[in-house]
Amino acid sequence: MKPISTPDLLDALTWRYATKKFDATKTIAPEVWSALEDALVLTPSSYGLQPWKFLIVTSAELKEKLKPLSWNQAQVTDCSHYVVFTIKKNLTAADVDRFVARTAEVRGMPIESIAGYRNMMVSDVVNGARSFNVNEWATRQAYIALGNFMTSAALLGVDTCPMEGIEPVNYDKVLNLPEKGYATVVACAAGYRAEDDKYAELAKVRFVKSEMIEVL
Ligand SMILES: Cc1cc2nc3c(=O)[nH]c(=O)nc-3n(C[C@H](O)[C@H](O)[C@H](O)COP(=O)(O)O)c2cc1C
Repeated sequence: MKPISTPDLLDALTWRYATKKFDATKTIAPEVWSALEDALVLTPSSYGLQPWKFLIVTSAELKEKLKPLSWNQAQVTDCSHYVVFTIKKNLTAADVDRFVARTAEVRGMPIESIAGYRNMMVSDVVNGARSFNVNEWATRQAYIALGNFMTSAALLGVDTCPMEGIEPVNYDKVLNLPEKGYATVVACAAGYRAEDDKYAELAKVRFVKSEMIEVL
């Protein structure tokens, strides 16, 4: 891995802003989009459990259905790819076993050799302390994916707008999520900024670094 320079990193992070107006004529090229899907897949999660699914909406018809459920925000329909971040609700021992089986497959090891790790995860996430707020826990994991996605997009010169101004329960209905055991937590529009999006020029409002970061 060749690290990028610190100016390149900060350039990308200051170039990124929550895009209000996308250029609806521009679409993300397949090879760029494929890398962004990989960035979603590569997102780390607690225990590695990946309690999520990322739904990619490109159909104009489906975007039109989601827009009124998104405070009518134009980003939904004008962006190139609209990502809905969903969590697997009420994680079960079967979900943990799916992950354990995948680990054994990828790393070429017997499932029995990670039985201890499996039991630890089940006794925490499924039966233990974390089970009482497991959907909240899964939601936090999904937000890591959101951050990873936005930063990755910025590094590739792709604009994004994270979207919490949505109606998750109604998204779930339109996307048929309840019967699959998944639930919407947040979304993100991705594409290219319109030349006249005045938000692109606004100064970033952040508390000063010394108030936010304390070296102990
Ligand atoms: C989780 C999350 C949800 C957000 N939801 C919306 C949204 O629904 N619509 C919108 O226009 N901006 C939304 N924003 C954008 C924020 O207002 C914006 O990130 C913040 O003001 C900082 O500005 P910047 O991203 O341009 O640096 C959201 C941001 C985050 C992180």
